[in-house]
Amino acid sequence: MNGAQDTTNTEVFVARVEDLDDGDVIVVQLDTRIAVFRDGDEFFAVDDRCTHQEAYLSDGFVEDGTVECPLHASCFDLRTGRPSGPPALQPVRTHPVIVRDGSVFVRTTAEAP
Ligand code: FES
Repeated sequence: MNGAQDTTNTEVFVARVEDLDDGDVIVVQLDTRIAVFRDGDEFFAVDDRCTHQEAYLSDGFVEDGTVECPLHASCFDLRTGRPSGPPALQPVRTHPVIVRDGSVFVRTTAEAP
């Protein structure tokens, strides 16, 4: 190993619910960079990298369960990771989000999108 800790299937604290307003995002750096979004009363987590080119989805716009890539505007479904249309063709990996006792946690997955 190169000193990096494998955090697959690890539940990691992200924030208190009240720390994220509707449309906010927090980036968590684990094995990979993960963006945790609040959309209304729901929370979603995806890999923070567009599957088209180098862009952070955390810089995108969140609405109606989707995030729009800031570079070429493909929209990704935050539940499934699937893009709505080109130029992105591959889904982004999603991660389970757990809300418990007023706190938001993300559990990392190794599953390919
Ligand atoms: S980099 Fe995201 S759509 Fe092109």
